[in-house]
Amino acid sequence: MSVIDVHDLKKAYGSLQAVDGISFEVKSGEIFSMLGPNGAGKTTTIEIMEGLRAKDAGEVSVLGLDPWKHGYELHKRIGVIPQGFRFFDKATPKEAIIYYASLFGVKVAPEQILDQVILQDAKNIYFENLSGGQKQKTGLALSLVNNPELLFLDEPTTGLDPQARRAVWQVIENLKKAGRSIVLTTHYLEEAERLADRVAIMDHGRIIATGSPPEIVQRFGSGERIRLTGGKELVDYIGRNSNLPVTFDDKFRQIEITIHDKNDALTAFRLLEQSGMDWSDLSTKRESLEDIFIKLVGTIDEGGSKANTMRREDDQQKDIQVSAN
Ligand SMILES: Nc1ncnc2c1ncn2[C@@H]1O[C@H](COP(=O)(O)OP(=O)(O)OP(=O)(O)O)[C@@H](O)[C@H]1O
Ligand SMILES: [Mg+2]
Repeated sequence: MSVIDVHDLKKAYGSLQAVDGISFEVKSGEIFSMLGPNGAGKTTTIEIMEGLRAKDAGEVSVLGLDPWKHGYELHKRIGVIPQGFRFFDKATPKEAIIYYASLFGVKVAPEQILDQVILQDAKNIYFENLSGGQKQKTGLALSLVNNPELLFLDEPTTGLDPQARRAVWQVIENLKKAGRSIVLTTHYLEEAERLADRVAIMDHGRIIATGSPPEIVQRFGSGERIRLTGGKELVDYIGRNSNLPVTFDDKFRQIEITIHDKNDALTAFRLLEQSGMDWSDLSTKRESLEDIFIKLVGTIDEGGSKANTMRREDDQQKDIQVSAN
């Protein structure tokens, strides 16, 4: 069952096509992460789904509602942390929760929400004096006031130190366990890899890859590699007796064998054994979501223009869904 359905969504600001015909769905109970460089169109897409911006074209359904036409109904059922969340300097988290509840006209148990976001220790400190992590947790607390089914968290951990970031991850993981659906944007790829069931990588208003992090790594990565130290004769032996791609770094006597599946791995180990030659320091290496992101989104070349190191998925085929389900 999906909580969000977006089809061929478009939004331009003047001549800038910020969102350029994207389609995706978010399933009930999942964490769906939108990734992409600055200006890719993530916040624009999120704000259209929240009913805060009008779309130009396409279909958007959130919890079965048209966000633009039925914003009032929708806002009762979603929680939102806008990018760069701030609150009144002289309000404490607890006061903020009570104030928000009155805006929504709902009854809340502030202590329970403070527990949920692990903020009890700072509940009576003015917003201006909270640490970055505590401020973000206050944002999370406010997004929970109306007991929403679906949360939109736009960069909830930007600027936080590693401990504070992990504390917010824990809160997000708890929300997922409690059955809420979450749309999350982040520039921290390890965050998406850790939290997201599925991600969409956006660039220039288009989705260039979707799927679970392991599916994306599998699909766009160059496979897992077995790395070991050994001699050139071992490389030649593997080359003669298999089709496994193998490279050799003369200087460090480092051998890398690319494996795509379990059979490749078994073949590699069998050859190492059969060769009877010396080798040591065996480890395995696999690309991270961040490595793939850099590959897909490209790097800035010296002329300042963007150079993709690999063909974009939507250039290769129409159906961009990687997911098997
Ligand atoms: N109200 C607006 N008027 C004009 N241009 C806008 C407006 N809002 C966004 N843009 C432009 O649209 C593009 C997409 O912006 P958006 O905020 O959606 O990107 P983003 O992916 O969220 O980026 P970031 O990672 O920096 O938050 C950018 O080029 C931005 O400058
Ligand atoms: Mg943004």
